[in-house]
Amino acid sequence: MFRIAAAALALFASTVALAAGPQRPADTDLVNLGRYLVKTTGCNDCHTPGYAPSAGATPPEAQWLTGDAMGLQGPWGTTYPSNLRLVMQTLSEAQWLERARQPMRPPMPWFALRDMSDTDLKAIYAFVRAAGPAGQPAPAYAPPGVAVKTPVVRWPSPPPTTASK
Ligand code: HEC
Repeated sequence: MFRIAAAALALFASTVALAAGPQRPADTDLVNLGRYLVKTTGCNDCHTPGYAPSAGATPPEAQWLTGDAMGLQGPWGTTYPSNLRLVMQTLSEAQWLERARQPMRPPMPWFALRDMSDTDLKAIYAFVRAAGPAGQPAPAYAPPGVAVKTPVVRWPSPPPTTASK
């Protein structure tokens, strides 16, 4: 009887754990909050090659946000997801808050950064800075009509117009 009760209790506990799901780390735990936000707000989808196709299984965190040499091409020209591990090294936290809220070229969802709280932006900064520099800079932006040497993905339809950098 005791064993059945213990088993039922264990099952209940694991169900509760599952139902609760991942928790947002505390606002004071900046590095872990940053990791959580990078995972859940899509930054890795474009800035970390292989992350989206593997549903986040690869590459290891040490290679996250190192940018992509696969061009994203559309009416705006060809853009490359920046190497944020290098970009962040050049910015103070105050400069990051300013940069993060400026328009960027498509298909970067810059408005997602614009609409984030200061705490969330600071958390992303803390996480990326703690990870340190890695990888190579992404290739330079090419305006419309300029040929590029890298592979490209044609973006199916233009996202909303944004100002250029
Ligand atoms: C749909 C693909 C996509 C997603 C998702 C995405 N980015 Fe980007 N990001 C880009 C591209 C492409 C560029 C380069 C834009 C340009 O050339 O102006 C960029 C540029 C940037 C820049 C400018 C860096 C510099 O060179 O100054 C920052 C900062 C940035 N992204 C942060 C993020 C963060 C943080 C997230 C997650 C919230 C994110 N991005 C999600 C595609 C993406």
